[in-house]
Amino acid sequence: MSKPKLLITRRWPKAVEEAAEQDFDVTLNEKDIPLTIEDMQSALKNYDAISPTVTDVLNSQAFEIQNVRCKILCNYGVGYSHIDLPSAENLGICVTNTPDVLSDCTADIAMTLLLMAARRAGEGERELRANKWIGWRPTHMIGAKVTGKTLGIIGFGRIGQAMASRAHFGFGMKIKIFSRSKVSDDVLSKYNAEQLNSVDNLLKQCDFVSLHCPGGEPNRHLINSSNLSQSKRDLILVNTARGEVVDEVALADALKNKVIRAAGLDVFDGEPKINPVLLLAPNLVMLPHLGSATLETREEMGFRALQNCKAFFKGEVPLDKVA
Ligand code: DGY
Repeated sequence: MSKPKLLITRRWPKAVEEAAEQDFDVTLNEKDIPLTIEDMQSALKNYDAISPTVTDVLNSQAFEIQNVRCKILCNYGVGYSHIDLPSAENLGICVTNTPDVLSDCTADIAMTLLLMAARRAGEGERELRANKWIGWRPTHMIGAKVTGKTLGIIGFGRIGQAMASRAHFGFGMKIKIFSRSKVSDDVLSKYNAEQLNSVDNLLKQCDFVSLHCPGGEPNRHLINSSNLSQSKRDLILVNTARGEVVDEVALADALKNKVIRAAGLDVFDGEPKINPVLLLAPNLVMLPHLGSATLETREEMGFRALQNCKAFFKGEVPLDKVA
């Protein structure tokens, strides 16, 4: 029997590309350039399976085609707000993601940003590289203490909990959370966490807030000028979720006018383009979407995507089916 035709839309670590070849007739994107919507439409007509990533446009327009061959989108990544699930479902396409395997590394990057923003690590490094450091002094580059402070976590899935674990057990932080669904007392008690009833309340009560919710329209601008203006003074905001969750213009304004103290972003609305207003804020630390960027994790993401795809073609329900 011939192997299913699989398109892998971006380069993967070598070990997983090689593993893919064993079970699939694989096409790699040798140039590693993001596919256009037309490329994606053609791929949907010509492949049995596609493994897309967050850089691929799979909105409703992408699915407005005839003669679809693709049966599964085994997404390489946990977030799938770039895929219009109802359109995929209408065409009978199964969609899977890669949860669990990137929770630790994404939480590590969130903690990195939290610490960098609090302790002004970006500013400090820029000062050194510009040869402007005049030496130690008691009032130089004073930051915010992290240990013992209160961390608000929005979205309390696997990554939110990995963040809570680092902050609570590593830095003695008190944890408050916001999640649309009720989190069980067992889970909350692991981190001695308190669930609040709104994002606004969380921003009012916390020294730090870290975002770990899905992206997409339902959460677009969950953080906005209205709730930023009512936030606790000196708030530090961290976003490793999706860019659209934060109104970036409102954030830049809040940073500029010292409505909040600092922020750390790993994700951007419309990335890789960066809204120029963000570049003007010295109290903002930015990373280029590095959340899952370790070799171990990027390999595990690939193996997980392949596992889902193989299960599908064996006639099983893939472990990480989301649609
Ligand atoms: C994901 O998996 O959704 C990330 O944003 C990419 O690591």
